[in-house]
Amino acid sequence: MKILIAFATLSGNTQMVSEHVADHLKGLSHDVTIMSQDELEPTQMNEYELVFLSSSTWGDGEPNPTSEVFMEKLKTHTEPFGAVKFAVFGLGDSSYAHYCGIVDRFEELLKEKGKAPIVESFKIDGYPEDEVLAQANAWAEKAVAAAV
Ligand SMILES: Cc1cc2nc3c(=O)[nH]c(=O)nc-3n(C[C@H](O)[C@H](O)[C@H](O)COP(=O)(O)O)c2cc1C
Repeated sequence: MKILIAFATLSGNTQMVSEHVADHLKGLSHDVTIMSQDELEPTQMNEYELVFLSSSTWGDGEPNPTSEVFMEKLKTHTEPFGAVKFAVFGLGDSSYAHYCGIVDRFEELLKEKGKAPIVESFKIDGYPEDEVLAQANAWAEKAVAAAV
């Protein structure tokens, strides 16, 4: 399957998880591209069968700055998406009032575009240890299965 993982990170955690998931899916023979959301134009997402949007929450439930810019582009993107499907994962910390607020925002935005995520989004609480990385891989496999 042709897959894009488009991440946004501030201190590197989301990039690390995204790269881990990308390597895992490549190991399962998928054609995986990974890039930062600041390199991505919304129209490019039509080139993929499945797009993972990953990001972290900062401030008081705010998107990190890279996602903030990308979300603005997505909001004003009027061209309809084709067959591409979406899944969302995010990093945060449940000690904050708006835990993984970015995930909720991406879900809402995708729904507005008629492209609700095909699986329940995956939220990572705190620094992603090995066990969580394995869970992220398993979740990504479920998303791929749902996209077939
Ligand atoms: C100043 C600060 C504010 C944060 N605010 C939130 C928040 O509102 N909600 C949340 O879920 N996580 C919050 N976090 C946790 C980060 O999202 C978490 O550390 C994440 O792993 C960072 O990922 P990144 O390195 O990809 O940016 C905050 C962290 C810091 C340092």
